[in-house]
Amino acid sequence: MKKALFWICAVALAALLGTAVYRFCFWKTLPEEGPLAQQVEHILQQNGCLVCHSYEPELPFYSKLPIMDKIMAGHVRHAVRFVELDEASKNLAEADEVLVAKLEHCMLTSSMPIAEYRMIHWGTGFTSAEKEIIARWVRERRMQITGTEEFADSPVRPVPSYVPYDEAKADLGKRMFNDTRISLDNTISCASCHILEEGGADHEDDRVSEGINGLLGGVNAPTCYNAIFNKQQFWNGRAADLQEQAAGPPVNPVEMGDQSWDDIVARLKCDAALVKEFEALYPESGLSMHSVTDAIAEYEKTLITPDSRFDKYLKGDANALTKKELKGYHEFIDNGCAACHVGVNMGGQSFEHMGVFGNYFAERDKDIKRHADDDGLIGFTGNPRDLERFKVPTLRNVALTAPYFHDGSEDDLDDAVEKMFEYMLGKDCTDKTEESITAFLKTLTGEHPELKRQ
Ligand code: HEC
Ligand code: HEC
Ligand code: HEC
Repeated sequence: MKKALFWICAVALAALLGTAVYRFCFWKTLPEEGPLAQQVEHILQQNGCLVCHSYEPELPFYSKLPIMDKIMAGHVRHAVRFVELDEASKNLAEADEVLVAKLEHCMLTSSMPIAEYRMIHWGTGFTSAEKEIIARWVRERRMQITGTEEFADSPVRPVPSYVPYDEAKADLGKRMFNDTRISLDNTISCASCHILEEGGADHEDDRVSEGINGLLGGVNAPTCYNAIFNKQQFWNGRAADLQEQAAGPPVNPVEMGDQSWDDIVARLKCDAALVKEFEALYPESGLSMHSVTDAIAEYEKTLITPDSRFDKYLKGDANALTKKELKGYHEFIDNGCAACHVGVNMGGQSFEHMGVFGNYFAERDKDIKRHADDDGLIGFTGNPRDLERFKVPTLRNVALTAPYFHDGSEDDLDDAVEKMFEYMLGKDCTDKTEESITAFLKTLTGEHPELKRQ
């Protein structure tokens, strides 16, 4: 009996001593005064954030033990697919809206590091002093990015009511957007696939777009409304801006089918009045690929949809949303949807793995055959880390832009929400949550003279 007591005491003493030594060696210190970005870098380092969120992780010694190695590898795989922090933490002064939103979310929810890590590394997890520093940095960085103090506490912002543009060029661009002469057989215009009355995307029953001669493309047409707010264009980001984007479809063999822009320009030049108009507005280039695409891009600056009910709410109209919609908005924020669907466009700012959790492509409807366009960002960058990363689509007017995802695989908005929970968040979503988030998403339909609400 005495012996047992002795051992119990000995173990307890050893544990206490161990804790003391551990705390002495590994205890966190608050960062020194200095730029906030530097202080946050220090905080991320001290909380082990870089261990898992890195492509080349420096793992702790125990991760080499059997079983632990598999568990750790799994964490790292999911973690870095969600957000890279090793490189990013060195450059927080330049952090984009997405990184700001991701760090804000895990700071507010105290979700990181994950519980298993905290069990071994006592003391990790943000303290209130650390949280306060992160919160100050989030505000500061948002104000730098947006140039205003308004909405510095929110990952999403309202669509502005106006984006400066050149009226004469936009007017010409509007006509070009609707001009079928750009396609080889005079049947298709930009507006054939981007139907402005119906949300700026393709018909609801078109999973992928039908181009010239009934040829089918590989991806679902995203909306052209609010595309001006995207950081890059296309699902795989291969166009840097709207002008570069507009040069693509006309010479795409399954879209508008032309051989070259020279052919298109030659055809348009048969129209003497049009040539004159271009010469007046573009004295240097006249009617050319450059001027046609520039005019279209100018017109697209007018394709914005302010004044959705949600934006009215953001701007202070407390009654703009119903109780259920408001609940959906909070769930959207609390679950971290806005960490990817950020900013004015609630998307369009980053490329994320379709399947942070699970294998989306293996589990997808078998009738949809794997297509080169399913490779995502890698098709543009060639970087293996970019396989199956897609531009986060805007959620503006999402109620009108079915079917969903790059492959158009999902017909219903609530099913798309469920898939996001499964593949992006790795968790189940209750029917109630699915319903209220879907109700919230339906409040994102904005106003535009051409847009008919459904
Ligand atoms: C032991 C590995 C590990 C460590 C350490 C870790 N993470 Fe994570 N992190 C993950 C995993 C795995 C996920 C995927 C989501 C999940 O499992 O909850 C994740 C998800 C995230 C997300 C997105 C989801 C959310 O809750 O916002 C952010 C942001 C994030 N981590 C930031 C951090 C930060 C900041 C730290 C340091 C305080 C940190 N992580 C430490 C493994 C880790
Ligand atoms: C045959 C149907 C079709 C035609 C014609 C067409 N598009 Fe598209 N559009 C698409 C598809 C499909 C995509 C997505 C392609 C991708 O990401 O690889 C797209 C992408 C876009 C995007 C990018 C949006 C985003 O969020 O990435 C814009 C902007 C756009 N189109 C405008 C135009 C303009 C301007 C024209 C006329 C010059 C045009 N489209 C002609 C089907 C079409
Ligand atoms: C890790 C980043 C990330 C998170 C978190 C995330 N999404 Fe997404 N979302 C994406 C990407 C990427 C796509 C496009 C995937 C594709 O096309 O294959 C997408 C697509 C969607 C679509 C389809 C839109 C369209 O036009 O095709 C909806 C709706 C959506 N997300 C809602 C949500 C909701 C609601 C949540 C929270 C429960 C959420 N997302 C969380 C990145 C994310």
